[in-house]
Order: sequence, then C-alpha cells, then structure tokens
Amino acid sequence: MGARNTARDFGWVTRLIHWLTALGVILMLALGTYIASIRPSLGNLWLFGLHKSLGLSLFALTLARLSWHLLSPPPAPLSEGVPRWQVTAARAVHWMLYALLLAIPLSGWIASAATGIDVVLFGRLTLPPIVPPSETLDRLFFGVHGVLTSLLAVLILLHAGAAVHHHLLRRDRTLRRMIEG
Ligand code: HEM
Ligand code: HEM
Repeated sequence: MGARNTARDFGWVTRLIHWLTALGVILMLALGTYIASIRPSLGNLWLFGLHKSLGLSLFALTLARLSWHLLSPPPAPLSEGVPRWQVTAARAVHWMLYALLLAIPLSGWIASAATGIDVVLFGRLTLPPIVPPSETLDRLFFGVHGVLTSLLAVLILLHAGAAVHHHLLRRDRTLRRMIEG
C-alpha cells in the first residue's frame, strides 16, 4: 500500500487526508451552527476556541493536501461510460470544495480578528490579527462565512451522493479506491 498516488489509485496519504477532512468538515458544520445559535459566555467560550482551532487546522491540512497533489498527482477519474458532463461536474465540484476549504477558514479568521478578540490556536498560539477591529468587517465576513458554509454543505451532499451513485448504480471502483486504495 503506497503513500503516493499512482496513475490508477489513490495512495494512503491522499486517502487519509480525504477522510480526516470529511470528518472534520462535518463536525465543524455542526459545531459552527451550534455556536452561532448560542450567546457567547465564559462557560461556552471554549467551544468557540475549539471551532477556530479545528477550522484553522483544516486550512493547514488543505494546504498540505494541495502541495502533496503537486508532488503526487491524483489518478484520473474512472470515466468509462460516464457522460462527459458528469466528469466535468465532478472536477468542478472538487475544485469548488478545495476553494471553500481555504475561503471558509480565512473568512472565519478575518471575521474573528475583526471582533478585536485574539484568535488563539488550541489555547496556546496567539495568531497575528490579520485585520484591525472593525464592526463592518466583522459583520461582512461572518456573513460571507455563513453563505460559504451553506454552499459547502450543498456541494458535500452532491459529492457524497455522486460517490454512492458510482458505487451502487455504476458499480465501479470510484468509492472503493478512495477507501481501500
Ligand atoms: C465531507 C467533506 C468532503 C470533502 C470536503 C471532500 C472533498 C473531496 C475532494 C476535493 C476530492 C477530489 C480529490 C482529487 O483531487 O482528486 C474528493 C474525492 C472523492 N471523494 Fe470526497 N469529500 C468529502 C466527503 C466525501 C464523502 C462523504 C464521500 C463518500 C460518500 C466522498 C467520496 C469521494 C470519492 C469516492 C472521491 C474520489 C473521486 C475520484 O475518484 O475522482 N467524499 N473529495
Ligand atoms: C472548514 C472550516 C470551518 C467550517 C466548516 C465552519 C463552519 C461554520 C458554520 C456552519 C457556522 C455557522 C454559520 C451561521 O449559522 O451563520 C460557523 C460560525 C462561526 N465560525 Fe466557522 N467554520 C470554519 C472555520 C472557522 C474559523 C477558522 C474560524 C475563526 C478563526 C471560525 C469562526 C467562526 C465563528 C466565530 C462563528 C460564529 C459566528 C456567530 O456567532 O454568528 N470558523 N462556522
């Protein structure tokens, strides 16, 4: 079981990052929705900290994933008998997922910095404020964060639905090669 991707298969590095990201993103959508619905208080501040720390970890993981793909390009899609529009749609969704995995944490970081409160990674590392305190930026970027996360949720449903479609109806190795390699 190789670490690198080959012309036909995903290596374990890509598969591990894919499923860690999937788990992390689903947790973060739930946690984000929860913290947006409560009143911040001393007792629940750690949940906000956890959301920010995990979100920025996912940002770093996505940068690592994209760098890894430059060194070890992913295999071409299993497109035999698949209509062209579906191959194009899959590629477009993958790129949008990558773009959102970068833009969502960035918008969260900008919005959080704009509140004037330090963003602290796992209670240890204080990040530089990337923007000065500003109510306009705070409102604008939390708005952007909310819209982009809704878009992400829709794309994930499409993406996971397409994977299950390949597995159950087309009966090809698309899902299996992302699990077993
Ligand atoms: C929840 C968040 C998820 C994100 C952000 C995500 C993201 C991605 C991305 C960006 C790729 C493209 C990999 C490449 O560059 O080649 C990919 C591939 C893939 N994903 Fe996901 N994914 C998620 C969840 C899932 C789930 C739940 C499933 C299965 C039910 C799934 C199944 C697959 C499969 C089978 C591929 C390989 C497609 C191919 O062979 O071209 N993903 N995913
Ligand atoms: C992949 C990463 C992330 C995902 C999937 C995500 C998801 C979400 C979601 C779904 C919400 C609720 C939005 C709403 O209902 O309006 C939310 C809120 C929030 N996010 Fe994120 N987030 C991520 C990263 C970050 C980062 C990196 C930060 C800050 C450094 C951050 C800070 C916040 C804050 C402070 C809220 C609460 C906003 C409020 O009180 O209305 N998020 N997030």
